[in-house]
This record gives sequence, C-alpha cells and structure tokens, in this order.
Amino acid sequence: MAVVVKALLALLLLDAALASSFLDMDSIIPAVDPQWIVDLAGAPLTGLLAAVSRDFDPLLDLDPVELSRYWGYDAELHHVTTDDGYILGIHRVRNVTVASAAPGAKQPVVVMGHPLLSSSAEYLVLGPGKALAYLLADEGFDVWLLNVRGNTFSLNHTTLSTKEAAFWDFSFHEHGTQDLPALIQYAMQKTGQQEVQYVGFSMGTTIMFVMGAERPDVAKHVKLYTGFGPVAEASHSRSVPFRLLLESIPVLELAGAPLGVYWFLPSTPELRATGQTLCADSAPLTQPLCVAIIASVGGRNDKQTNTTLLPYILSRFPAGTSFKVLDHGRQLLVPGFHKYDYGTDQNLARYGQLTAPSYNLSNIFVPTRLYYGPNDLVASPQLQTGVIAAVHEYTPVHACTEKNTLVAVTEMVFNLFPES
Ligand SMILES: *[C@@H]1O[C@H](CO)[C@@H](O)[C@H](O)[C@H]1NC(C)=O
Ligand SMILES: *[C@@H]1O[C@H](CO)[C@@H](O)[C@H](O)[C@H]1NC(C)=O
Ligand SMILES: *[C@@H]1O[C@H](CO)[C@@H](O)[C@H](O)[C@H]1NC(C)=O
Ligand SMILES: *[C@@H]1O[C@H](CO)[C@@H](O)[C@H](O)[C@H]1NC(C)=O
Repeated sequence: MAVVVKALLALLLLDAALASSFLDMDSIIPAVDPQWIVDLAGAPLTGLLAAVSRDFDPLLDLDPVELSRYWGYDAELHHVTTDDGYILGIHRVRNVTVASAAPGAKQPVVVMGHPLLSSSAEYLVLGPGKALAYLLADEGFDVWLLNVRGNTFSLNHTTLSTKEAAFWDFSFHEHGTQDLPALIQYAMQKTGQQEVQYVGFSMGTTIMFVMGAERPDVAKHVKLYTGFGPVAEASHSRSVPFRLLLESIPVLELAGAPLGVYWFLPSTPELRATGQTLCADSAPLTQPLCVAIIASVGGRNDKQTNTTLLPYILSRFPAGTSFKVLDHGRQLLVPGFHKYDYGTDQNLARYGQLTAPSYNLSNIFVPTRLYYGPNDLVASPQLQTGVIAAVHEYTPVHACTEKNTLVAVTEMVFNLFPES
C-alpha cells in the first residue's frame, strides 16, 4: 500500500504546493477542506479510470452495517463518546441463529482493533466463512468493532469539526488511552459484563500495548488479548516503502498544514475507484502492481492472496488518519516504544523531562497471545524479542509458517486460538 500512498501523496502535495503559491496569507486562514485537495489531484485520475471497464458490484459500496445485514448477521451502529469528546462510530455484529439457540445466555464479548489507515470493515470484507468478525460471531461471540478517531466512521466530535487542526491533534497514544478504553467500557455497560476479549491486528496491537501500559484500570477487564502482526516498535521493519512513507511524514505535514490538510488518505471516491478498477481481476495489466505494493509491506504469499477480493478490500482501505499518528509511527523507527516526542522544550512542559518517556510494558498483566507471519516485513520476527517481552502473561510468540498475517488472519484464529 505504501507505494501507492506515497505516489498519491506526492501528487497531492505537488497540487498543494502549486495551489499554495497562488494563495495569499489572508485567503488561507479558513482551513481548506482536505477533500478539495484530493479532488484536485484525483480529477485527472478519474478521467483515466473511466476508460477502464469494471463490473459494477453493489457489495463494493455497502457500509459495515449494510454489508453484515446483507449476509444475514445482526448488525448495529453505536455512537461512543470518549472522555475528550470524540464520537466514535462503532459496529456490533452478532449471529442471530447462535444467539437465539441459547436465549438469555450471555454471549462472550470480543472487541476488535484495526490496523493503521484502516477501519472496522477490515474484519468484515472477506465475507462469511472467512472474515474474522463473522467467524467469531458464528462461534457465539458478541463482536464490537472499533473505529478509531479520524477514520471514515469516527469523524464526529462534541465541539470540534474536522476542519480544525485541533480535531487532528492525536496519535495512536489517544487511540490507546481514549478510544479503546471508551469502547471497552461502553461494551461492558451495554452487555452487563465485566470482562471482554480483545483482538488486535498491527496498529490494533499497538493501541492495546498503549492501553495496557497507560490504562490498567480498563486493561484489567481484558481477560485475553490476541494480537496479529504485533507492533510496539518499528526499528526492525524491513519494508522499504513503509519506512520511506514514515520518513517523509514531517515534510508532508509541513506542506499540508498551511492548506488546512491534516487528514491523511481519507477514503475518497477517487481512491476507491482506483482500487476497485486497477486492482480488479478485469485489469490483468495493473493488478500485479497492486499485489506487489501490498506484498512490499505485508510480505508476499501468493497461495494466501485471493486477488478477486482486492477491489472489496480497497473500496474500504485506506480510511484516513491524522499526520500525527504517522509521525508517531515514524518515531518508532528508532529502538524503543515511546510516547510522542514533541522536542525537548515541549517534552519538558508535558512530561517533565527532555525526552519522550517509554511506555511501561511491565505494567501489562493481561494474558497475551501474539502471532506473526515470518514474511511480514513490518511486524518482523525480531520485533518479538524487544519491548514486547516485558509483557507479563504472554505465551511465547507464535510464528505462522506458510502464512501471511495480512491475508490469513482468519485461519490463524480458527486453528490456533483454542490450542495455544
Ligand atoms: C450463524 O451460525 C449458524 C450456526 O452455526 C450458521 O448456520 C449460520 O450460517 C451463521 N451465519 C448466519 C448469518 O446466520
Ligand atoms: C455526531 O454526534 C451527534 C451526537 O451523538 C449526533 O447527533 C450526530 O448525528 C452525529 N453526526 C454524525 C455526522 O454522525
Ligand atoms: C476468491 O474469492 C472469490 C470471491 O469471494 C471466490 O469466489 C473464490 O472462490 C476465491 N478464490 C479462492 C482461490 O479461494
Ligand atoms: C513499570 O511498571 C512496573 C509494574 O507496574 C513497575 O514496577 C515499575 O516501577 C514501572 N517502571 C517505571 C519506570 O515506571
């Protein structure tokens, strides 16, 4: 994904730079809608894409609730407000057949956290029999899917608008200290239960490590944490595109800020059309490029990659995030797992010390099981010997041989969840 991301971003910033040279300071005070920039960059692209035919498939455009209902699941949208005012769109999925087989019985609650730039759709888009959320629902779980602040489904706030820089002033620190705790507390309250399970994938694991270290008051309610492709530091990442993307964030952020562009890669019609068209089976010339881009981050495994599904996945991904999330990710390229580094002056004011403090993973007592794909270039095996080893109750990490974490997550749960 990162190469596409970078190419598009370069295009966006070229546009942004050209546009800004024509703006005087007064006219840029009202923040420019990021959509405007994206539309500007996307316009020539859309013309190009119109020439490529594709079979229209209504499933491409359904949101997670519509999609789940289409497949016969009970699905709900919930609005969960965090302590700092963000209103998260949360998706809940249950299998009615299983639920009604034991009326009155409490279904175990599982909360699921998605990767960087992604959304709850990540856990649904493969469909019944494959998608992890549906597999767990079929196993009797009451599934609550997180959408962190700033993605497609969580753009609402009690006082701030997405046009304000203040809305976008968050990193994955806030996903872990605010968003995830708010959802867990909400799900417990709605279901009358005192414990939940948590499943995280990639950044979905990062935010659990943050919550475990910073919010033990909430983490103590997690009775099992299953993490796929765990990331608590990125210093061993072997993905060159991923590293390049992160390294370029400060420049991109600097270029975007005067134009009011704080939102990175929101889901737009142009991006969706690109993925749906150029990555489809009907585009044999460009589809291998899509596969190569994904493989450059997630690792290559042709046996585990069903290319037919790419348009469905890419009609929901990317789902947008803040520059600060990515910048915090960039800071993880050096060893350690630290809070956001604001520079010495601001660090002193905020943290009372010159450097950004480490997350204390010795604070985590949640039973933890971690799985990784050996060919995953970001959450590479070396990661597991680093800071994660401080987590108290974790069973040694499982390597999923012959599997790629990006595409085989569902099978991993099915095969390894019970025995490990
Ligand atoms: C729900 O679970 C039942 C029983 O395991 C299964 O037959 C059905 O296919 C599942 N899916 C839906 C949508 O009901
Ligand atoms: C934002 O949240 C408020 C309060 O929950 C709700 O009334 C409103 O419909 C939400 N807006 C959107 C666009 O979701
Ligand atoms: C790939 O996904 C499509 C759509 O769900 C399905 O029809 C096809 O059987 C899958 N191919 C493989 C090899 O699993
Ligand atoms: C980290 O957490 C552990 C366990 O709660 C505690 O004993 C230790 O003092 C903490 N370390 C730091 C540097 O705060």
